[in-house]
Amino acid sequence: LNNNFSTTTPNNNSIQNITVYGSGLMGAGIVQVAAQNGFKVTMVDIEQAFIEKGKKIIDASLSRIAKKQFKDDENSQKSFIETTWSNIKTETNSEKGAENTDLIIEAIVENLETKQNLFKKLDKISKPNTIFASNTSSLPISEISKITERQDKFAGLHFFNPVPQMKLVEIIKNDQTSEDTYQKLVDVTKRMKKTPVTCKDTPGFIVNRLLVPYLMEAVRLAERGEATTEDIDTAMKLGAGMPMGPFELSDFVGLDTLKSIVDGWRKDGKIDAGLVAPIKKLDDLVKEGKLGRKSGAGFYTY
Ligand code: NAI
Repeated sequence: LNNNFSTTTPNNNSIQNITVYGSGLMGAGIVQVAAQNGFKVTMVDIEQAFIEKGKKIIDASLSRIAKKQFKDDENSQKSFIETTWSNIKTETNSEKGAENTDLIIEAIVENLETKQNLFKKLDKISKPNTIFASNTSSLPISEISKITERQDKFAGLHFFNPVPQMKLVEIIKNDQTSEDTYQKLVDVTKRMKKTPVTCKDTPGFIVNRLLVPYLMEAVRLAERGEATTEDIDTAMKLGAGMPMGPFELSDFVGLDTLKSIVDGWRKDGKIDAGLVAPIKKLDDLVKEGKLGRKSGAGFYTY
């Protein structure tokens, strides 16, 4: 029987080694989830002190998960944690981190020039077939990828906070991203036990494009005095089935982050002006340093 029409893709060139740049909130989460699911992961940051912070984030999360998953079985808890750590290496030399890796996931500061500088450097020293991905929330992928000579091997891979808990990954496929790159990223996210969705390179991708204008409408509604923040939160939880009300969620995301997304979109001019109009209440809170949960106060006090 002539079996030339095999529809299965050979698995021999699938991704095994991943390097994550940035060991902050998101980077540490991505490292952990990849390592938990059998990838060999290198976590890179610019200073050892930041690496240590990332390790602490992973440690805390792993012991929480271990206790939940293997309730009274201390041996299994220990072995789960040890196996995960055995898949993780750390590195403060960014060139070394890129050696022999199949996929680079960038989760460094949200600044276009900083991201471009990193990728420009990595493009020169990485294997030709290494795939590059950015976890950016608000920058156009094409603006970052254009600095490289591997735009076909470049995509967005947008995780959600907290990474170990949130099931979704948005894969941003722009006009330059090849089908092979895209398929490999779909495969990686599934092997990380996440659910991928695909979106074009548009402001906010899917989740933030819908969520941020909704959160801002809630602030406007309260600002006009039409309902209290508490009642709006209760209404959306009990009447719309949301797990968190819009003010609780805004405080969780960070008011500075929300403000910077809305300000960026307004400057960009690609989104309807009414949806991104400035909001005095939000600007005031950020000015006062009330950034949400992380600063002890935002719409609520913690
Ligand atoms: P973070 O501030 O917690 O961590 C950033 C880390 O990157 C820091 O440890 C910093 O030292 C490191 N870094 C800076 N320049 C570097 C370089 N050249 N090489 C290696 N490491 C470098 O930031 P966070 O919140 O983890 O965000 C990272 C990225 O993820 C941003 O692009 C952000 O837009 C995106 N993102 C953030 C989400 C969130 O909820 N915080 C959600 C989804 C995406």
